[in-house]
Amino acid sequence: MRAMEISTTLTTEPKDDARLAEILESPGFGVHFSDHMFTAEWTPEEGWHAARITPYGPLTLDPATAVLHYAQEIFEGMKAYRHDDGSVWTFRPEANAERMVRSSHRLALPVLDPDDFIQAVDAIVEVDQRWVPDTEGEEKSLYIRPFMIATDRFLGVRPAKHVTFMVILSPAGAYFSRGPLPVTLWLSTEYTRAGRGGMGAAKTGGNYASSLLAQQEAIEHGCDQVVFLDGQELTYVEELGGMNMYFVYADGRIVTPALGTILEGITRSSIMDIAGKMGHPVEERRISIDEWRDGVTSGEISEVFACGTAAVVTPVGELKWDGGQTPEVTEAGEVTMKIRQALVDIQYGRADDTFGWMHRVC
Ligand SMILES: Cc1ncc(COP(=O)(O)O)c(C=O)c1O
Repeated sequence: MRAMEISTTLTTEPKDDARLAEILESPGFGVHFSDHMFTAEWTPEEGWHAARITPYGPLTLDPATAVLHYAQEIFEGMKAYRHDDGSVWTFRPEANAERMVRSSHRLALPVLDPDDFIQAVDAIVEVDQRWVPDTEGEEKSLYIRPFMIATDRFLGVRPAKHVTFMVILSPAGAYFSRGPLPVTLWLSTEYTRAGRGGMGAAKTGGNYASSLLAQQEAIEHGCDQVVFLDGQELTYVEELGGMNMYFVYADGRIVTPALGTILEGITRSSIMDIAGKMGHPVEERRISIDEWRDGVTSGEISEVFACGTAAVVTPVGELKWDGGQTPEVTEAGEVTMKIRQALVDIQYGRADDTFGWMHRVC
């Protein structure tokens, strides 16, 4: 396939070394952005064109730009990792590229060829490679945010005829400031995240906008994150606002909610392979909230964890709801931490990449 032509205009004001070192020492999450950004445009006549890397900076958008009104937009989330020899790698970028194709279908946006997606990500990460933190034993990385927005200047409701794809980069430290300590979850019984035929499986901003009120409710109840049930029966566990879920059974099985109205996480799918290889039978099926509550109370479910690119694998502690909670959990479970370590070791090049998941950028 023909490679995309990308023009590059470098910034004349790159972040100076001392300030960059300061940022990479304690990057936080999603607050600092690298020196450059990638942009490409799409129209029905020209297809994808004008691919370019330019200095990072604000966009100028007409107030009538479609995405500002009807939220026709999708995004991805992935990371670049620096290995001990200085090389820079991404993790299963083709999986993000393919998920973006699925999201674009649901949001009536044009398809960006997965090869072009990977080329764009590689190109911008290579240009800003000094923004990929050295890990020094910590889980630092460069978070990569590709996104596609409807940039028509038009207030009619229809799929956009001008679309912009961009990639921006943001150095990231550990997602949860307290490290992999168990997080408490609030069970949302009023709000759901997705319904049948809706956008639950797409990575689109509206899903996150609709999760915010429930997340606020979780915080008000002293919890870290919200967990959503299915929109139809309010019975089956779906996922958190930004992570998939796993349940570890005392007999070694691990169970994750089936696909349909949840985001098909790349971490979720990787864990299926890793846990399977470790000898855990993996089940993808519906799991009811009662199975969760009863299971952790009786001990049949020995560990619960959440997973996603940003936080990797996060132990889940108590589940709270209006009028009750599951037994207290003070420590991360053994299986949780074993899976977490196996995944992180592959990502940081400390273990053999037997699944062929890592992609070298530079
Ligand atoms: C709603 C939601 N579920 C699950 C995930 C996990 O997906 P992934 O493992 O691809 O990061 C994410 C993204 O991080 C998400 O936003």
